[in-house]
Amino acid sequence: MDALDLLLTRTSMSRLEAPAPNAEQLDIMYRVALRAPDHGQVRPWRFLTIEGQGREALGELYAKALIHQNPQASAEQIKRARAMPLRAPMIIVIIACKQEHPKVPEYEQIIAAGCAAHGLLLAAQAQGLGAFWRSGEMTDNKHVTQQLGLQENEQIIGYMYVGTPSSDCKIGAQLEPAEFVSSWPN
Ligand SMILES: Cc1cc2nc3c(=O)[nH]c(=O)nc-3n(C[C@H](O)[C@H](O)[C@H](O)COP(=O)(O)O)c2cc1C
Repeated sequence: MDALDLLLTRTSMSRLEAPAPNAEQLDIMYRVALRAPDHGQVRPWRFLTIEGQGREALGELYAKALIHQNPQASAEQIKRARAMPLRAPMIIVIIACKQEHPKVPEYEQIIAAGCAAHGLLLAAQAQGLGAFWRSGEMTDNKHVTQQLGLQENEQIIGYMYVGTPSSDCKIGAQLEPAEFVSSWPN
């Protein structure tokens, strides 16, 4: 696929099914992610790959976290939380690893990790795969972050759902640059 074609049609794909990326495709996705712009070469990121039964374990974690957070949660809410990670055959947890740095403030490090996440989206699509970046309350739930092994300086910036797009994924409308761009000075 031509690079500009890919960049001009990048689209999130919410309906994902098996197969998950194979080892080679996943390696390429991570290599692209690691090309993210990174002030000071801080490498403010790391990733967890979750697939197969790991997704069920993540669902269990979500269900426990919900009950802990809201003991009144209904059976339906708990069931929904448990099923969330089953919406794709693979989930990549994107973690920003914030480090003290004399020149690179924390927000720049989070942006760099976000650029890495964008790389995952692009590299998935380039290989005929699909991906969808999700966040929600399970990104900063203490129970979840502890069980996933995050340190104090770390933050989940998203769960990237990855798989094979079901055939009905549509490319989003093209926004017009003129609506967002102006010259300065006028
Ligand atoms: C940091 C971040 C978190 C997001 N979290 C969610 C989410 O939890 N649920 C959701 O439906 N979309 C979420 N989105 C938006 C989707 O990933 C997606 O970008 C959006 O549906 C627009 O589709 P498009 O990427 O094809 O333009 C998030 C996007 C970003 C950048």
